Amino acid sequence: MQDHEPSRTAISVALRRAAHQVLDSPKIFDDPLALPILGRYAARMEKMAAEDPQAMRSLRLFLAVRSRFAEDELAAAVARGTRQYVLLGAGLDTFAYRNPHPGLRVFEVDHPATQHWKRSQIEAAAITVPEKVVYVPVDFERQPLPEALQSAGLDTAQSAFFAWLGVVPYLTIEAFESTLGFIASMPAGSGVVFDYGADPAKLSDVERAARNALAGRVAALGEPFRLFFDLDDLHSRLVRLGFPQIEDLGADEINARYNLSLTGRGGRLISARL
Ligand SMILES: C[S@@+](CC[C@H](N)C(=O)[O-])C[C@H]1O[C@@H](n2cnc3c(N)ncnc32)[C@H](O)[C@@H]1O
Repeated sequence: MQDHEPSRTAISVALRRAAHQVLDSPKIFDDPLALPILGRYAARMEKMAAEDPQAMRSLRLFLAVRSRFAEDELAAAVARGTRQYVLLGAGLDTFAYRNPHPGLRVFEVDHPATQHWKRSQIEAAAITVPEKVVYVPVDFERQPLPEALQSAGLDTAQSAFFAWLGVVPYLTIEAFESTLGFIASMPAGSGVVFDYGADPAKLSDVERAARNALAGRVAALGEPFRLFFDLDDLHSRLVRLGFPQIEDLGADEINARYNLSLTGRGGRLISARL
């Protein structure tokens, strides 16, 4: 991330979520605000049309299903009684503005530059900001998250559900561990969904080629991938931190669950519960 600029990968992900609304049928993730929140940036979707259609469809579907998975897991957490949702690195995620769960407070945490820009996009698109949305500008690498969330009103005596989508690969291990440690300090019933990149050494040649192509694109946007995990090592860390219930989905499991045909690039989705 550049300090004074909104995240360029946040724009790229939002463009693909919007393209999913227009190009894919049936939709795996229905987001009527995905296009409006882009405003003038929507014009960039035309440029994306020139990209390799098969590879781009698979990436687009992965990004769409990642949001769907988070919102499915959130709905289950809400059914179990959770009333706080924290989006870490919210980007242009629109959940807060179409929240179907009465009484659910939504905390949008993001890098200050991205969050400032998002709020101007929301205003320009005349999207209504519900009362239960709280903005928390934080740089994960430099500022303590717990203090920022508590001053914003997160109740650490009550469970919370966290979504951390498209952020972990860009972090240092220190920022990853301190954020996960904070989530682990929340009450039982709390949980987190995040995606991560599997250890490159464990990928097939085809997966590695697809991963390298994506890594090259995000690096060119100034936000290189820095963090990958070996699956067993990550699960041990999660268990040690107090997350006994872990669901970890690779392309095959995602395809089976959501009836998709993603091709793998080593991107995985995890849901872990305290
Ligand atoms: C690829 S985008 C994903 C955005 C959103 N979660 C989504 O799925 O559309 C990465 C997000 O992580 C945020 N981010 C990256 N590094 C960060 C940092 N050090 N502190 C706070 N946010 C950060 C960016 O501002 C951006 O919103």
